Amino acid sequence: MKKIEAIIRPEKFQDLRAKLSEIGISGLTITEAAGTGKQKGQKGVFRGTTFQIQLLPKLKVETVVENEQVDEIVAIIIEACNTGEIGDGKIFIHPIEEVIRIRTKERGAEAVL
Ligand SMILES: Nc1ncnc2c1ncn2[C@@H]1O[C@H](COP(=O)(O)OP(=O)(O)OP(=O)(O)O)[C@@H](O)[C@H]1O
Ligand SMILES: [Mg+2]
Repeated sequence: MKKIEAIIRPEKFQDLRAKLSEIGISGLTITEAAGTGKQKGQKGVFRGTTFQIQLLPKLKVETVVENEQVDEIVAIIIEACNTGEIGDGKIFIHPIEEVIRIRTKERGAEAVL
């Protein structure tokens, strides 16, 4: 299993969620986040004055899935969240050792769905 952690533009979330739902992905966790990437939060030039915003609001979307689903989900995230502009975000993929559903004590593939 893998945890797909995507840092995205908040306004892309509804579209992403709908697309994930279409392929049966409903288990996810969302965290409001703030961060910077390569541009260190610099957004651009406003009326000739360069201004700096150190941390930009982002959403962190985490979903744990079986290995075979990773490529499809990454493609969906890119499709839903790519604008081509700086700040589109990043995807981190983590190995997951175990998943346990607390209610039933199921583990692994049975617990992740
Ligand atoms: N190396 C990193 N580690 C952790 N979080 C990161 C990292 N890079 C980016 N992020 C998170 O992703 C958000 C979006 O990053 P962003 O898309 O600006 O990345 P970038 O590398 O600057 O790419 P781009 O040039 O397309 O803007 C950041 O606000 C931050 O929350
Ligand atoms: Mg950036």
